[in-house]
Amino acid sequence: MTQRIRKAVFPVAGLGTRFLPATKTVPKEMLPVVDKPLIQYAVDEAIEAGCDTMVFVTNRYKHAVADYFDKAYELEQKLEKAGKSELLALIRDVLPRHVRAVFVTQTEALGLGHAVLCAKPVIGNEPFAVLLADDLIWNKGPGALRQMADCAERENASVIAVQDVPREQTGSYGIVATENFNHRQGVISAIVEKPKPEVAPSNLAVVGRYVLSGRIFDLLEKTKPGAGGEIQLTDAIAALLKEEKALAYRFEGRRFDCGSRIGLIEATIQYALDHGDLADAAREYMTQALKGA
Ligand code: UTP
Repeated sequence: MTQRIRKAVFPVAGLGTRFLPATKTVPKEMLPVVDKPLIQYAVDEAIEAGCDTMVFVTNRYKHAVADYFDKAYELEQKLEKAGKSELLALIRDVLPRHVRAVFVTQTEALGLGHAVLCAKPVIGNEPFAVLLADDLIWNKGPGALRQMADCAERENASVIAVQDVPREQTGSYGIVATENFNHRQGVISAIVEKPKPEVAPSNLAVVGRYVLSGRIFDLLEKTKPGAGGEIQLTDAIAALLKEEKALAYRFEGRRFDCGSRIGLIEATIQYALDHGDLADAAREYMTQALKGA
C-alpha cells in the first residue's frame, strides 16, 4: 500500500440510540461541537490527510447530512445581498472546491462492516480511509488520519487507530494483540470484538479511524453476522490479518467519544476552551458554575 489514500468513507447510517430523542430527527453526526457538526470535523481531518473524495454511507432518514454538504442557494443569496462575506465563506467552505462528496445508501442497518461494504463501488481496489465521525480526535499537531496515512504509506500496510483503555472497558471496543509494539505502532497479530476483560488480549482499543487495503471488501462480502448480529468490520480485519500486514497505531491526540453523552459534553468543553472567541467566556462560566455546584 505505498499508494497515498485519496478516498474517505464516513458510515453515518447507524441508529444513534444513545442520543434519543435528539437523534429521532437529527443524525448523530450532525450534533454540533461548538459551531460545527461532528461530520465536519471528520471531513476536515480527511482533507488534511490528503483525501479528495468523501463517501458518505447514509440511510433514507439521513437527508440532513446530504443537505449539509449541498449548496444552500437561498441562504447564500441572502448573505451575499447583505454583504455578509464571512458567513458566506463559512457555509461555502464546508467542502473546498477540489473535494467531491458521494452518497451511497445502506438500506438496512446491518452493522459497520456492512456500511463500509456499501462504499465498494466508489472505492474500487485502492487503499482508503474510514472515519467514524462520533469519535472526535483533537490534536494541536497533524490530525490522527494524517499521522496514520503517513504510516500506511511508509509501512505499506493497513493501519488501525488504537488507544489505551482501562481493562474493565474492553467489552465496549475492538481489542488488538500486537507484536513489537514500540509505543507508537506494532503489527496486529489478532483482533477481537468486545472481549470481556478477563479474555481481552490487551487494553489497546480500536477507535474510529482506519486506513484499509481494498482487499477488505472481498473479505467483508464473506463475513457472517458476528457480535450483536451485525456484520462487523473487526471480523473482516481479522481475516485480512491472515493475508496482509496491518498495524495498530497509537495516534497523537485526544479522542472524545461523542457517541456518548458525556463524551460530547467533554468535547464541547475542550473545543470551547480552545476557541479564540469563546475561551475566556467559557472559562469564566465554568468557574462560576463549579462554585455554585
Ligand atoms: P455505533 O456502534 O456507534 O452505533 O456505530 P449507532 O447506531 O451509530 O449508535 P448507538 O450505539 O445506537 O447510539 C458506529 C458507526 O457505524 C455506523 C454509525 O453511524 C457509526 O458511525 N453504522 C453502524 C452504520 O453506518 N451502519 C450500521 O448498520 C451500523
